[in-house]
Amino acid sequence: MVPASIKEVAAHAGVSISTVSNVLNRPEMVAKATLEKVRAAIAELGFVRNESARQLRVGRSRTIGLVVLDVANPFFTDVARGVEDEASRASLAVILCNTDDRERRENHYLDLLEEHRVQGVLITPVASEGSRLAGLQSRGTPVVLVDSTSASLAQCSVAVDDVLGGEIAVSHLLAAGHNRIAYIGGPRSLHQVADRHSGAVRAMVRDGRNPEDLAVVRADSLDVASGRRAGAEWLSLPPRGRPTAAFAVNDLVALGFLQEVTRNGIRIPGDVAVVGYDDIEFAAAAAIPLTSVRQPRRQLGRTAARLLLEEVADPAHHHRQVIFEPELIIRQSSQPVE
Ligand code: RIB
Repeated sequence: MVPASIKEVAAHAGVSISTVSNVLNRPEMVAKATLEKVRAAIAELGFVRNESARQLRVGRSRTIGLVVLDVANPFFTDVARGVEDEASRASLAVILCNTDDRERRENHYLDLLEEHRVQGVLITPVASEGSRLAGLQSRGTPVVLVDSTSASLAQCSVAVDDVLGGEIAVSHLLAAGHNRIAYIGGPRSLHQVADRHSGAVRAMVRDGRNPEDLAVVRADSLDVASGRRAGAEWLSLPPRGRPTAAFAVNDLVALGFLQEVTRNGIRIPGDVAVVGYDDIEFAAAAAIPLTSVRQPRRQLGRTAARLLLEEVADPAHHHRQVIFEPELIIRQSSQPVE
């Protein structure tokens, strides 16, 4: 069955086509009785507005794009929740794209979103250089970086001070009396990861320690499996030489580390204290509640979406690079043992 046309709805309701268009796009301009009459005709005829035709007329779809590194990471789903809070208030839908930290996938999605004439793009970029995103902006699609600071003042961004985040995590472990601390990292190509490591080193230096004493456990991804591998590496060290504390670059890695070492009889925090990063819900809910550096995830998403919609409404708007401060949430996994 072919959906009814706007012309058939107008005839059925006994009004003009422009009145039906107002009911669809500017209902606040239509008298209540007329609104009800037209909406009844729409329901009776099974009219569905033609978004493709509307898009051809106005040039933009009623969507925004959100491009993230890993949709399986609760950090990004919480960010997406904040984005959707704002998008739904503007009657927009969110197209969620997952890059798996791969530049080729990122480029594919940026092309697709531009072709779909999204209102704008929110992105946690894989590639550090921004020429690709600058091109998108120059062709009329606003871009706001999320969980990433923009090098360009001509672009909005929302992030957390990850250097400070790394520093407060390791300062906490040093204050708890740990002398041998492991930093469980992730892909150095991600500046979020590099910044957290820089903060960890800064904490060591500020405490008068040799930064070389920070045992770096390399990790190739930011997921639970990577944390398990790091746990196995820690277990392989001679017991007397093992770090007594571990700072993991995000909560998924920390939870994987926790799972692997506790599975092998290691006590947390007695044998090794653990600190994560993001403070996703699973951190507090873990069998051994995880100390974590909190990122305001939903607020990151809301703020980024607001900046994007501001720019959509007024291309001459004042670009802003918003940086939130992280907060250390101390739980059982790093409490000093009496
Ligand atoms: O965005 C890169 C990383 O920062 C993600 O792993 C997420 O957990 C956040 O910590």
